Amino acid sequence: MEFKAIGVLGAGTMGAGIAQVCAEAGFKVVLVDIAPEFVDKAVKGMNKNWSKAVEKGKMAADQAEKLNALVTTSTDNAAFKDCDIVIEAIVENIDIKKKVFKQLGEICGPDAILASNTSALSITEIAAATNRPNKVVGMHFFNPVPVMKLIEVIPGAETTDDVVEAVMDLSRKIGKEPVRAKESPGFIVNRILVPYINEAAIVYQEGIASAEEIDKAMKLGANMPMGPLALCDLVGIDVVLAICEYYWREFGDSKYRPSLAFRQKVRAGHLGMKTGKGFYDYT
Ligand code: CAA
Repeated sequence: MEFKAIGVLGAGTMGAGIAQVCAEAGFKVVLVDIAPEFVDKAVKGMNKNWSKAVEKGKMAADQAEKLNALVTTSTDNAAFKDCDIVIEAIVENIDIKKKVFKQLGEICGPDAILASNTSALSITEIAAATNRPNKVVGMHFFNPVPVMKLIEVIPGAETTDDVVEAVMDLSRKIGKEPVRAKESPGFIVNRILVPYINEAAIVYQEGIASAEEIDKAMKLGANMPMGPLALCDLVGIDVVLAICEYYWREFGDSKYRPSLAFRQKVRAGHLGMKTGKGFYDYT
């Protein structure tokens, strides 16, 4: 399977990062979101990262221009029609994903792979909504995408091995290390990482220590690159809350019950870095 053009649906933090790394690997990228301001913001972000790389002497100025030229944007999913793969990175809502994947199946050529960057949801369920469940696969990136090396590749019940292999190969081509995981809520990383972040939020909620102290403790006492509450702000408190709730529903185990601190912050609209406020203030 040869990839020339890669579609990325969703121009938020993850979609923008995915589009950036795909362009850096020399692929044509079609980036789509529902509103022009979303795609414009993503393209600005990519260009900012490339300008920084030029300033640091890590990239030639003309290379940054070439990369920019590889990315086209649209607000219409029909723009994906010639893509060899579409990587979806939209909101973590199964009903919306199913609707979107059904539509992508109707738009894309019969050989195109449809990948989801879902961090926890069932690939089989998303795949069942399409006209090609054998070509639907999980391709889970990590935040910040340009820095984090891992991609979890998750086959659904009907995904063929050649599709999984093609996506693992593509992951290597964009400079990442793929790991194959069976379909299960949260796959590998989030199954382990999200309960850890939740426990940190419970420690915070119980007043055992401040956010700064909790993060300092985990950085200096467990050598984490960043503390769990800062990481929660980076990932998005709404995202972490949604994942906890999903585990709780799927496993029926109260150990996944989300911290009230998540709920309070989400109700206040304090979702982390993306809104300027979460466990920390970024304004
Ligand atoms: N975009 C692009 N590049 C970025 C970046 C971003 N958002 N953030 C940092 N970088 C780059 C910097 O430019 C810098 O590059 P150079 O080496 O070329 O100068 C490099 O990364 C290191 O950055 P900093 O020196 O500013 O900071 P740091 O060394 O503290 O690293 C970090 C920052 C990479 C975020 C690090 O703290 C870290 O690894 N944190 C943990 C992140 C993590 O666990 N992510 C997974 C989250 S879970 C997830 O994403 C899954 C999900 O589904 C919810």
